[in-house]
Amino acid sequence: MRMNRLNGKHIILGITGGIAAYKSAELTRRLRDAGAQVRVVMTRGATEFVTPLTFQALSGNPVHTDLLDEKAEAGMGHIELARWADAILIAPASANTIARLAQGRADDLLTAVCLASKAPLAIAPAMNHVMWHDVATQSNLGTLQQRGYHQFGPASGAQACGETGEGRMLEVAELVDSLASLFKSGALQGVNVLITAGPTYEPIDPVRFIGNRSSGRMGFAVAQAAREAGANVTLISGPGDLSTPEDMRRIDVETAAQMYDAVMHEVHSNQVFISAAAVADYRPKTSSEQKLKKQDAELSIELERTEDILAAVSTTTPRPFVVGFAAETENLEANARTKLHNKSLDLIAANRVGKNENAQDIGFNSEYNALHLIWPDGEQQLEQARKPALARQLISFIARLYNQQKQNEKNTA
Ligand code: PMT
Repeated sequence: MRMNRLNGKHIILGITGGIAAYKSAELTRRLRDAGAQVRVVMTRGATEFVTPLTFQALSGNPVHTDLLDEKAEAGMGHIELARWADAILIAPASANTIARLAQGRADDLLTAVCLASKAPLAIAPAMNHVMWHDVATQSNLGTLQQRGYHQFGPASGAQACGETGEGRMLEVAELVDSLASLFKSGALQGVNVLITAGPTYEPIDPVRFIGNRSSGRMGFAVAQAAREAGANVTLISGPGDLSTPEDMRRIDVETAAQMYDAVMHEVHSNQVFISAAAVADYRPKTSSEQKLKKQDAELSIELERTEDILAAVSTTTPRPFVVGFAAETENLEANARTKLHNKSLDLIAANRVGKNENAQDIGFNSEYNALHLIWPDGEQQLEQARKPALARQLISFIARLYNQQKQNEKNTA
């Protein structure tokens, strides 16, 4: 169902000055019913029609109205809002706001957020039919369409001004459905994709293990993005507390050996394999059946290598399109290229892990990541972003390279 695609999505609902603003109250409710998190940004004009309090109650979040509000900027300022969004929908979008967006203005909060965001942007125009048909409005809409804005509506019918014509805002259900459709690219429609995520735990004794800081967020975001792109997803997850994205099969494992077995069991029915899990490279050679007692001042644990799952998948027949990750604290590109080559990968997504230049955690156990994609004859930098946004970019890359490879195979067959 399309609406499910909004589940967990961060939606900024921009509301501008127009009588249709009252319908946006219902829209806020419906977006939340569909599982979206909603933050409302109102222009000054919009607040003349409906109060921010209404939207605060319905969205469950503070409403944002001012660009130059110190308190708001200290909480979630315009840049942060812009980064938070998975999509921005302006409903209703007045002729004035459409004109200001077309000019690239940033002199109120809503236009500034739109300018600062890389998320998909959609407008639901609502205005008097003469304003709608005016050349200036149509030319502004043309400009926005060229820049990739999505346009939902308007519909025709009786208008608040008493006249009849084109310019009514689409009904709420149509807006929710149109917004949901933005989250499906179809680029991996029907392709079976196997993804690993999270850490592995290698037992020392019944209560202790060797593990790592992976939260599973990156792999889960990749799984969700692949599903949104139409793939049939199987997610193999190490220990963690993330809930499974909708509409996919999940297999839980704990150790590298269990992950290896699960991957090898599943891989033959998949066309793409993405290894986002932080798999332990070593495990204790033996795991004590009883809890180890505190005895000597020092304790040595002998370690042995685990199976390299990714390298093993690369040698299977039939071989899927194989994507690895590289988590590096130094020499990111050189190390990633070595892994690309040694493990015979089709693509590697390298991420620097640890602290970024602002001393924030990045990569492991963080909301954010940045990826350097490298494949045998190209590379591409994906700038720092929230993991779901980054995962969608990664999936469209994988889809492009995978589909190219399929096409080449067909051409040479
Ligand atoms: O889970 P999060 O908190 O969201 O963090 C995301 C992440 C940083 C864990 C993720 O983006 C990431 O980088 N995952 C791979 C981590 C890793 O183990 O990197 P590596 O450079 O050690 O391994 C290279 C590749 O080989 C990886 O694709 C890994 O899954 C795979 N591997 C490694 C060891 C092993 N025994 N088997 C493997 O398949």
